[in-house]
Amino acid sequence: MIIAIDGTSSSGKSSIAKELGRRLGFHVLGTGSLYRAVALKMLNLSIDLSDDEMIKTMLSTSKIESHFENGVISISIDGIDTPMSTLNSQEVSALSAEVAQKPFVREFIRSIQHAEAEKHQHIIVEGRDIGSVVFPDAEIKLYIDADIVTRAKRKQATYHENGEDVKLEEVIRQLEQRDKEDRERDISPLIMTSTSIFVDTSAETLDQSVNKIIDLISEIRNK
Ligand code: C5P
Repeated sequence: MIIAIDGTSSSGKSSIAKELGRRLGFHVLGTGSLYRAVALKMLNLSIDLSDDEMIKTMLSTSKIESHFENGVISISIDGIDTPMSTLNSQEVSALSAEVAQKPFVREFIRSIQHAEAEKHQHIIVEGRDIGSVVFPDAEIKLYIDADIVTRAKRKQATYHENGEDVKLEEVIRQLEQRDKEDRERDISPLIMTSTSIFVDTSAETLDQSVNKIIDLISEIRNK
């Protein structure tokens, strides 16, 4: 069984996916971290965004793996564990949304997504194009959103935890930029499919959202 979770940046997708996974005993794959890993490796190797050939060469020798244990996702790049704080930096966030616009990068990530779904009988996959492109036939499809100020405050708190202090106005600007890039790109744009369930997390705690979603899932499964 596949649960597909899509939505805007910092809407709570990742926290919801991890908590749902923990409670339901599903494997969890956060696909944004995979795009972030590609961006981080490019930064580490000083590969320019415009240099498609170098990016392709880099990907051909890259092994990006995602693990999920006890409600925590960890990412390794070429066998080395990568701290989430590094993957979640402002620089990596911005580059990941840009590099995600390249078809060959999406193809590379798609093969990881399909391999993971083959490996795990029950999986929650979270991202931007999961219910629309990667797993359109997923049994449950959720689209998560929240108002921009709520999302920016959550993102600002994550930056703060990672030692980056950023003004709220700047976080709002960054989120709007990433939403725009995700919605307007030609390939696999962020959309809500007609079969997705919309969840607004603006006024909810994580527990409230997850409880509501678990109720929705059992309603759908008992139909
Ligand atoms: O979800 P997260 O913010 O970690 O994702 C980082 C970036 O990766 C997003 O801004 C988006 O551009 C890209 N992404 C994507 N498709 C996905 C997941 C993430 O394009 N399925």
